[in-house]
Amino acid sequence: MSDTPRPIVLSGIQPSGRLTLGNYLGAIKNWVPLSASYDCYYMLVDLHAITVRQDPAVLRERAFEFLALYIACGLDPARNVLFVQSHVPAHARLAWVLNCYTQMGELNRMTQFKDKSAKHVDNINAGLYSYPVLMAADILLYQAKAVPVGDDQKQHLELTRDIAQRFNNLYGPVFTVPEPMIPPVGARIMGLQEPTKKMSKSDDAETNALYLLDSPDVIVRKLKRAVTDTGNEVRYDINEKPGVANLMSILSATSGESFDSIVDRYNGQGYGKFKQAVADAVVACLEPVQAKYNELRSNDDYLRGVLRDGAARASAKADATLKRVHDALGFIPE
Ligand code: TRP
Repeated sequence: MSDTPRPIVLSGIQPSGRLTLGNYLGAIKNWVPLSASYDCYYMLVDLHAITVRQDPAVLRERAFEFLALYIACGLDPARNVLFVQSHVPAHARLAWVLNCYTQMGELNRMTQFKDKSAKHVDNINAGLYSYPVLMAADILLYQAKAVPVGDDQKQHLELTRDIAQRFNNLYGPVFTVPEPMIPPVGARIMGLQEPTKKMSKSDDAETNALYLLDSPDVIVRKLKRAVTDTGNEVRYDINEKPGVANLMSILSATSGESFDSIVDRYNGQGYGKFKQAVADAVVACLEPVQAKYNELRSNDDYLRGVLRDGAARASAKADATLKRVHDALGFIPE
């Protein structure tokens, strides 16, 4: 990375569930070009993941799987800092401090906490409650200017800004106040069975999502069964024809073909041929990603090296911020 300071982008993802075509087309793919103009940090948030129960073997497997998929999707570890949250102790340390600068009233308003505690009634733990504070620490440690997040995380980002401003008002400009980053083109991919809801990596219904590691057979089968409507027109109408509109988005994002051209080619011919074309385009788009993934997964040493290097680079940045925070608070320097 160059010596001139560049603005910082940071995002995180929980290593749980399985990465979907929506994660790729709506997020990861748009992050790849960012490293030309930003210092980019992407992390696997394992500390966040344990706010709900995880199977240790599955968690470990998913962390390697996600890392390899990030790289296979084009995030070059030489141009992006890829790391695991628990490898950088400053996250937990800053989170504690920020807990003391966050009001319970603020956390009580978080809709994700309300949703998750309704879903996990037997394990409403304190970590789940202060989850957004750890996320604020993630972001503020790196002085991130721009944070690519989905709609479901906007409220947490708003809280992060409030915490940063509050701290800065008390102690001077310690933190950069971050902003959400809305990708200029990012495709918003919806579920195949429920095309009015975002495709989710933690969906219980297997057929609702296309996973990045799905085989060609599975992709064809899922797309054949994708919900459309009783008509036969291929045209983009999110309200009247959400299923078809979503399939058009998927086809366009994976093949590069424009909506107009898709309509010209498939309109009035029923959905069979159209769905087959979507499947072909998805298979072709994922083939190089899966090939690269398989190569990386057979090289554990390489992946461990990426994480070691990522943790060292992330720690350098995070520790500098933590020191400023400790100084501001009056802690004795280490
Ligand atoms: N809470 C985010 C999610 O569930 C993940 C996350 C943790 C994150 N820390 C972050 C996202 C920092 C952006 C920046 O999707």
